Amino acid sequence: MQQAEKKQRENWGSRFGFLMAAAGSAVGLGNIWRFPYLTGENGGGAFIVVYLICIVVVGLSIMTAEFAVGRRTGLAAVGAYKSQNKNWTFAGALGVLSGFFIMGFYPVVGGWSLAYMVKSVTGLLAAPEAIGDVFGGFIGAPVEPLAWMIVYLAINLVIVAKGIAGGIEKAGKVLMPTLFVLLLFIIFRSVSLPGAAAGLSFLFKPDWSAVNGSTVLAALGQAFFSLSLGMGCMITYGSYLNKKENLPSNALTVVAMDTSVAIMAGLAIFPALFAFGMEPTQGPGLVFVVVPSIFAAMGSIGTLFSVIFFAALTVAALTSSLSLMEVVVAYLIDEKSMPRKTATYLTSAIMAVMCVLSSLSLGVMSKVTVFGVGAFDFFDILTDKIFLAIGGMLLAIFVGWFMKKEDLKDELTNGGTVKFGLFEVWYNLVKFVIPVAIAVVAYFGITAIAQKSLMIFGLLIILVLAIFSKKL
Ligand code: PHE
Repeated sequence: MQQAEKKQRENWGSRFGFLMAAAGSAVGLGNIWRFPYLTGENGGGAFIVVYLICIVVVGLSIMTAEFAVGRRTGLAAVGAYKSQNKNWTFAGALGVLSGFFIMGFYPVVGGWSLAYMVKSVTGLLAAPEAIGDVFGGFIGAPVEPLAWMIVYLAINLVIVAKGIAGGIEKAGKVLMPTLFVLLLFIIFRSVSLPGAAAGLSFLFKPDWSAVNGSTVLAALGQAFFSLSLGMGCMITYGSYLNKKENLPSNALTVVAMDTSVAIMAGLAIFPALFAFGMEPTQGPGLVFVVVPSIFAAMGSIGTLFSVIFFAALTVAALTSSLSLMEVVVAYLIDEKSMPRKTATYLTSAIMAVMCVLSSLSLGVMSKVTVFGVGAFDFFDILTDKIFLAIGGMLLAIFVGWFMKKEDLKDELTNGGTVKFGLFEVWYNLVKFVIPVAIAVVAYFGITAIAQKSLMIFGLLIILVLAIFSKKL
């Protein structure tokens, strides 16, 4: 099965194909939906500075490390760990669980994006004052968002069941650059609105009083989420990478693309938000309220742009959720010898149930909570604030302490044929600095955060996985 998998991925062939796949996984709702609202909730500029530090120090190093582990072992997450050291299987399994849980809410938001594509032409933009209320009413409704989520999930299912991402790859190659251009256009509109300057200073004048342990953990978690790290996704992609490719430079390219899109989303949204006198702390609705409001002020051409924007956002989300689903499905195929179709149907069915709960938790089921949070926040907080960061820490420990330094050097320099001048810096970061830094951030984050019991529950899950890892 591993073999069959490999053949498929080789279809992505060229360097461009790989970069698009990895960047496609990275660039998604994390950049355009999540990054702006986290920035808004966490005080703006200071959060961005902390985020950028996390990206450069931790994200880039871990991305490089994941590519190296993947290409060295030629295996997907669980197999990669297992092949090196049986006791580490759980770290791969934690990745699979993260993928699974992220898919417990991601398709809900993917569904919103699909819905907004259609809503853009069915009157949403005609009543600009109501855009905020429309969003609140829509996501809390019992049926409509569920229907969109199912459509979104079904698209994932069809593509993953076929095992060939060709179509979506092609769509991505057109729509990702489109998204980029549209963002540039929106930025231009946004910053030229009267009153936009307040948004720029919100983004670029750090207010350090807004930063505490929980903000730093949010920034670290967002770095992992946005770069698709800490859950084996990039290990899997690395395993299909040609021996001639320069791993550190590919990692740098993906990180640079992902980070530029996030910053661009911030630049598109905040100037307009302040110009419209809206609240930066409004949470998950941010992009769904601000972007349509910008387009609403532009007449019929705005409608067209709005449709294209949400179409592009949907495709960006799809290229990410496909990679998430694939991590789970690949595990069932490789380790449990399940046929691809069975694995896809089974995982999609369970994900659909989790997503129904997540969606309803924003409306009719808002009173039903576990550890003080509804289903949506449960999956979101568990993965983003614990699993991915701990997954990244485990990977760093594994690479730094359980793999041979010469092997790593060999892998990262393609047997000495390409230069990686920062090898020693990277190695020491991964071996010493990153594990300690993540542990410290997690500790202070957990002590500062409101959902402590949920965080402790998350740590327990990891412990249980570690204990039963031999069975996985
Ligand atoms: N990086 C994706 C995004 O920003 C989400 C994702 C996380 C995808 C983890 C794969 C693995 O939307």
